Amino acid sequence: MIRVATLDDINIIRRICDASFDLNRWSNASFMQEFDKDHSIVYIYEHEDNAVGYMVIWKLSLTVELVTFAIEKEYQNKGLGKKFLTAIIKKYKDYTWFLEVSVSNQIALDLYKSFDFKECGIIKNYYGNNLNAVRMTREAIV
Ligand SMILES: CC(C)(COP(=O)(O)OP(=O)(O)OC[C@H]1O[C@@H](n2cnc3c(N)ncnc32)[C@H](O)[C@@H]1OP(=O)(O)O)[C@@H](O)C(=O)NCCC(=O)NCCS
Repeated sequence: MIRVATLDDINIIRRICDASFDLNRWSNASFMQEFDKDHSIVYIYEHEDNAVGYMVIWKLSLTVELVTFAIEKEYQNKGLGKKFLTAIIKKYKDYTWFLEVSVSNQIALDLYKSFDFKECGIIKNYYGNNLNAVRMTREAIV
């Protein structure tokens, strides 16, 4: 089940973030800023009443940017990331999607490709330390 997060979810988001990302972890301040942006929506994914994932998207007039997305480590590789992405994309299927993903994150690259995201560019040094990002897009279904 997906639900929109509130500031009360900040500790849950912190826990999932710390358990999922080794590098480039967002600070609490970064997450909290998202709640102040009109175009930003933070979602929580619940599995068997446990909050196990989060996603930040920026919803603009015609496009959605997937800003960050994670499933808590102990729940990964159980199909939950796919279910989360399926639910969110279904909700915004008539938007053109964009995202950036590390060139070294093969699991996420393959996952997005399986949802019809196509590579549309490389952003050099996006993550610092010479680590590049792949920019991907998914066409709106109208
Ligand atoms: C990317 C992420 C959200 C995927 O969520 P998930 O719940 O693990 O994904 P799923 O279980 O739905 O699996 C999706 C696919 O990835 C594969 N996969 C997931 N974890 C894997 C692992 N540890 N090793 C190998 N393959 C893996 C699955 O086998 C599946 O492939 P398939 O379509 O061929 O069956 C999750 O791994 C994560 O939070 N990673 C850390 C944060 C991150 O990288 N976020 C994305 C940043 S853009």
